[in-house]
Amino acid sequence: MPKSLLELLEESCPITLPLHMPGHKRNTQLAPYLKTLAAQIDITEIKGFDHLHAAEGILLEAMEQAATVFGAKHTFFLVNGSTVGILSAIRAVTAPGDHVIMSRNCHKSVYNALMLNNLRPCFIYPQTNMDYQIAASLSLTAIEQAIAQHSEARVLIITCPTYEGVISDLPVIIRLAHRHGLTVIVDEAHGSHLGFSPYFPGNAVSAGADIVIQSLHKTLPSLTQTALAHVRSDALAHEMQRQLAIFETTSPSFLLLASIDSCVRLLRDHQEEMFTHWQTALEAFHQKALGLSHLRVLGYGAERGRNLENVFGLEPSKLYVSTLHCDIGGYELAELLRAQFSIEPEMITPQGVLGMTGMGDTVQTLERFGDALLQIDSVLSAAKVKKTRLMAPRVYSKVPIATAERAPFIVLPIQEAEGYVMAETIVVYPPGIPVVVPGEVMNREAIDYLLAAKAAHNTILRSRSDVDGQVAVLRDA
Ligand SMILES: Cc1ncc(COP(=O)(O)O)c(C=O)c1O
Repeated sequence: MPKSLLELLEESCPITLPLHMPGHKRNTQLAPYLKTLAAQIDITEIKGFDHLHAAEGILLEAMEQAATVFGAKHTFFLVNGSTVGILSAIRAVTAPGDHVIMSRNCHKSVYNALMLNNLRPCFIYPQTNMDYQIAASLSLTAIEQAIAQHSEARVLIITCPTYEGVISDLPVIIRLAHRHGLTVIVDEAHGSHLGFSPYFPGNAVSAGADIVIQSLHKTLPSLTQTALAHVRSDALAHEMQRQLAIFETTSPSFLLLASIDSCVRLLRDHQEEMFTHWQTALEAFHQKALGLSHLRVLGYGAERGRNLENVFGLEPSKLYVSTLHCDIGGYELAELLRAQFSIEPEMITPQGVLGMTGMGDTVQTLERFGDALLQIDSVLSAAKVKKTRLMAPRVYSKVPIATAERAPFIVLPIQEAEGYVMAETIVVYPPGIPVVVPGEVMNREAIDYLLAAKAAHNTILRSRSDVDGQVAVLRDA
């Protein structure tokens, strides 16, 4: 008999060190409420417990308290992850057919919102950092150009921080966008912990964004799927609430809601000590990383303080380990971490692995990660920096995304798709950023990127074709 999911979870969780989400890291000493969240208190919206979509009692009070803790005018609790916040936010600020300016490295939920509301995107490509072969910060010039060329756009949507922890100059970007009358949505899914301690950068709420979406579960001690949406004005909050009532479940889990509320209270009452612990754990990792000879950790060890090409700043909770300068790739590094050290990373790319830390991490967990890297590093050899550029490449759009997404299609082996217009979204997960979306023309670089991601055993999600190795392209384009 194959094991049940529960059996597998019970068996593997006690031995694996999670360098992945959720941010509580099963640390029930830090967040004792996590132990209580079980069937005994699993209810629905009954008398005395308020209604998430028409809150006027305990949930309203809890959301108001969260707004105070995060410095927002209004805050909504989300139980369908940042995804539901992003869909709702974009629909709250656009009308069908509107033009939006957005960074091309947005999460797939942003693209789904484009399709749902028939929006026309103008993409800003983030800069690149060739030392690490990752997407870097957004340039102000690129945003200025996009605004100048698309005066009809009313909304700017950006992701900050990125999966690897790269941040852009949000206060300046937001001021620029506001000067041109744009409403700014920031996908801060990876940054719910920002703005509480000088060790971490400020958050998008204090930078003045109109709507900010944060996944609490990614870095803070809250259950998976929990997130927040912060909104800057009453009018926007009203529209946001209307959209959440469309996209979000009508049966919100009180276990998830209680986990959000408890996490907010923990932040309110123990902010300083919790962030000091996390900082101490990250600094302990830094000491270990100083001993690495071949593996490089973005912003840590010998890399700390280095000027990084096109990177405005980093937020230190992400431990992105690059294998570009040694004789193994990200996939091999992840296998070694798993097999020899029972460490499970968050993201694996052909050129590195991402260790995602969370507030539940301790000096012990991060030293264990550092020691594992040191041991692996000691048997590696230096290699010529790999020449292949393994970042999601630029592709060009020929047909509006919402049209192409529904148009008739045929399927082709991916190797033969060069020059065809895509009929589907293809996403490498994580990070969940589409490599191509409907209406874009597949090119050789994108094909090579997808084949490398597949070879590195990444999950590839396709929205229409269902045969491995094939892609859906427009029949009539
Ligand atoms: C940048 C970004 N935005 C949004 C999301 C969606 O967040 P959630 O999984 O909480 O719905 C993700 C998920 O990985 C993400 O990486």
